[in-house]
Amino acid sequence: MTFIQEILQKSHLLIGLVLSDGKNAEFDKIKLRLVKGKSDYFQAEKFKGDKVFHQNFAPSEVEAFLTEALTVYRQACATLAGETIQAVFYGKKTKIKRTANSLNVVEQSHNRKKNYIFEEGESVAPLFDLGIFTREGKIAKDKYDKFKQINRFIEIVDEAIEGDDKFTIADFGCGKSYLTFLLYHYLTVKRGFSVDVTGYDLKADVVQKCNETAKKYGYENLSFYCGDVAKESIKPGTDMMVTLHACDTATDYAIATAIKSGVKYLFSVPCCQHEINLCIKKGGDYDILMRHGLIKERFCALLTDAIRAEVLEDFGYKTEIIEFVDFEHSPKNLMIRAVKTGNPMLSKKQKMLDLCRKYSISQTLLNLVYGK
Ligand SMILES: C[S@@+](CC[C@H](N)C(=O)[O-])C[C@H]1O[C@@H](n2cnc3c(N)ncnc32)[C@H](O)[C@@H]1O
Repeated sequence: MTFIQEILQKSHLLIGLVLSDGKNAEFDKIKLRLVKGKSDYFQAEKFKGDKVFHQNFAPSEVEAFLTEALTVYRQACATLAGETIQAVFYGKKTKIKRTANSLNVVEQSHNRKKNYIFEEGESVAPLFDLGIFTREGKIAKDKYDKFKQINRFIEIVDEAIEGDDKFTIADFGCGKSYLTFLLYHYLTVKRGFSVDVTGYDLKADVVQKCNETAKKYGYENLSFYCGDVAKESIKPGTDMMVTLHACDTATDYAIATAIKSGVKYLFSVPCCQHEINLCIKKGGDYDILMRHGLIKERFCALLTDAIRAEVLEDFGYKTEIIEFVDFEHSPKNLMIRAVKTGNPMLSKKQKMLDLCRKYSISQTLLNLVYGK
C-alpha cells in the first residue's frame, strides 16, 4: 500500500498532515486537515513566508491533491489518532517511520469545535490589522471580548447556512467592521464560498477607512457605504442580514429591511433598546415591572426583542432568541436568529397593536411593518 493509499484509508483518523521540503515548490509547507461538519471537507493551509493561503476541497479530491503535491514535496508527516507516520520520498522509494501517539481523534475534533472559526495566533491578516491580535499573535487584552463575540457570531452563521455557498450579505451598523471583515474572510478564504458583503454605517471616516482596508487585502466583494440604515436600501438579492450591536432602532430598520427584501437569514444582536423605555406608561399586568428604573429598563429591552421575534414569525421566519456569548463577554448578549421558512401570516398584528395601545408604546419595527 502506498503512503497516499494508507492516508486515504485512514482519513477518519487523520488529525493533520504536513508536507515539506519541496523542490522548487511555490509554498514552504502545506498543512492539510479534515474539517468536520454536516458535510466534511479538507482544508489545505499553504505557507509562503509570513503569508498563509487556504484551499478547501471535497474528500473525493484529496487523492488528486496529494498525488500532485508529492511530486514536489519530499517529506510528509501524518498525525493520525494513535500513530504518527513520517515519510521521506526519494524518487520512487519511500522511507517510512511510524511512532505511536496517544492522540485521540474525538478529542481533536472537539477542541477544534471549541475554537471553530479563528484560533489565537492564526495567520489571518485582518485579525492583526484590526488590532484583535498583537504583533506576537496573541489576542489583545482589550479585544478579547470582541474576539469571542465574533468567533461565536460566525460560528452561529456557519451552522445555519449549511447547504448554501453563495451569499449577498448586508451588515447594518457595521462600525469598525471587525465582524464584517472576518465574516468575509471566513466565508471566502476558509469556506471557499462566493460572497458579496456590504457594510453600512453613519460614520463617514470609519466607512472610508474600511473601504481602504478592504482594498488593501484585495477583498473585491467587500465594500462599505456611509448612510443611515433608516433610509438605505440593500442590494437586490441580498440573502443575509447581520447586525452586531446596531444601536437602538437601527436594529428595527435592519429587521424591517430584511423582511421587505425577503432576506433569508437574519442574525441580529441588538443593543441600547431605549425606545420603549422612553414612552411606556403603566397600563395593566406588567405595571409592577415599571416601578424600579433598572427593572423597567431591562423589561423594556426584553419586550422590544420579544416584539421583534413575534414580528419575524408573523412574516414567515423561524425565529429563535439565543444567548450568543456568555454575559461576561458582553451584557448585550441576546441574538435574534431568524430563517425565512414560510409566507407571512400576519396573525399577530392585532395583538401587537393592542399591546402598544394599552401601554402607550410606539415601536419602530411595528410602525415599519404594520403601519402606524
Ligand atoms: C456599537 S457600534 C457596533 C459596531 C459593530 N457592529 C461592532 O459590533 O463592532 C454601533 C454602530 O452602529 C452605527 N449606527 C447607529 N445608528 C445607525 C444608523 N441609523 N445608520 C447607520 N449606522 C448606524 C454607529 O455609527 C456605530 O458604528
